[in-house]
Amino acid sequence: MTHTLIYPHTTVHNAAGHLEIGGCDVVDLAHEHGTPLFIYDEQSLRDQCRAYHAAFGALTDLYEIVYASKAFSCRAMCELVAQEGLSLDVATGGELAAARAAAFPPARIYFHGNNKSVAEIELGLDVGIGHFVVDSFEEIERLEAAAAERGQRQQVLVRVTPGVRPATHDFVQTGQQDSKFGFGLADGRAAEAVRRLRGAAHLELVGVHAHIGSQIFALDSYRREVEVLFIALADWRRDVGFECCIFNMGGGLGIRYTEADKPSSIAALAEVGVSAVREGAARHGMVMPKLFVEPGRSIAGKAAVTAYTVGTVKVIPGVRTYVAVDGGMSDNLRPMLYDARYEAMLASKAEMPATEVVTIAGKHCESGDVLVRDVHIAPPEPGDILVTPGTGAYGYAMANNYNAQPRPAVIMVAEGRARVIIARETWDDVLRLQRPLGA
Ligand SMILES: Cc1ncc(COP(=O)(O)O)c(C=O)c1O
Repeated sequence: MTHTLIYPHTTVHNAAGHLEIGGCDVVDLAHEHGTPLFIYDEQSLRDQCRAYHAAFGALTDLYEIVYASKAFSCRAMCELVAQEGLSLDVATGGELAAARAAAFPPARIYFHGNNKSVAEIELGLDVGIGHFVVDSFEEIERLEAAAAERGQRQQVLVRVTPGVRPATHDFVQTGQQDSKFGFGLADGRAAEAVRRLRGAAHLELVGVHAHIGSQIFALDSYRREVEVLFIALADWRRDVGFECCIFNMGGGLGIRYTEADKPSSIAALAEVGVSAVREGAARHGMVMPKLFVEPGRSIAGKAAVTAYTVGTVKVIPGVRTYVAVDGGMSDNLRPMLYDARYEAMLASKAEMPATEVVTIAGKHCESGDVLVRDVHIAPPEPGDILVTPGTGAYGYAMANNYNAQPRPAVIMVAEGRARVIIARETWDDVLRLQRPLGA
């Protein structure tokens, strides 16, 4: 079975002819917990965390793996990555709240975001997070003022846009000059940010950060990123005496969503990252900084599937067959945002040959609410349980209430046991914050 390339690591077909993940029958899970349902395989999550440690740890002691919680943030996930010895990237006060609820060690939290509010900055300082990743001149001023008010000295990294464009979708490129993130290298804003940070009495600049994009397959973009940044680091050391202790190369390693995708391995990423940083430091006569990598998708993506119930099967003769499921763009926006491709299969007919070519549509009032186009599945009928694999990253994280659709439940499965880690929203939950217009 080729499932393990795209599906969670524990995926098998069971004696009932159903898909089984983490020792749990997916059809039974769907009936017990309802659909749409995110099913995370605990083993796959832990395997990916360990693969990062193994790959980087084999090459250097000077590394840290920082899970980018935007990919999938919740208490249970923060607890799991803490147990696996990863650090945490949060991009908002909300993600920080999830980390705190999980009692994530604050010193191992990195606070990102291109527009942190004063309240978020103050919260970060008050809970003692390890590092802010500074993204704008306004943030430097606000952070310096808030740290001064508290009599604190805060360690920071500076986020740089190195002008490197990896081959990926335009909307997930972040390292190019025209970006809302960070300080550009080419236009001198990064050098100016370093100068101001070095002059800020309550901020201690300890490193640089860059994130060039997401779903990256070709690793040479990382090598270019590192080379470009080291040239800047050499200038900044000469000009303002900045010694870089932390080099955060960002996240972005791509994963396999379909059989056609050919991502690079975590080991190959480690090889490129470690060798490029080692060479960069040697070339410019610097001590090797600690290398940070910040994966999100490659930790969480493959660990989950989304289970749906098939509601209608609409055959348009000579055109296509629409199989409509009970979720859609409210639980998976990626096909609409990035033209993302997914696979699909009927968990209830796992052993049946995939003889039909169908298009999986959601239930929302948008023609574009299509989850998967032209995919082979077994003959579908209403009531079948359909799964889309590879939905563990930026699936639930981007879930929304379009059409007043309650957000799905999320469960974690392991060794035949399923635990609810995020409860299903109800219509009452959706209505809870609404107020009558009144007289
Ligand atoms: C700053 C930063 N770090 C890490 C990531 C994680 O990227 P990925 O999930 O592609 O690994 C992102 C994603 O947008 C990001 O913006």
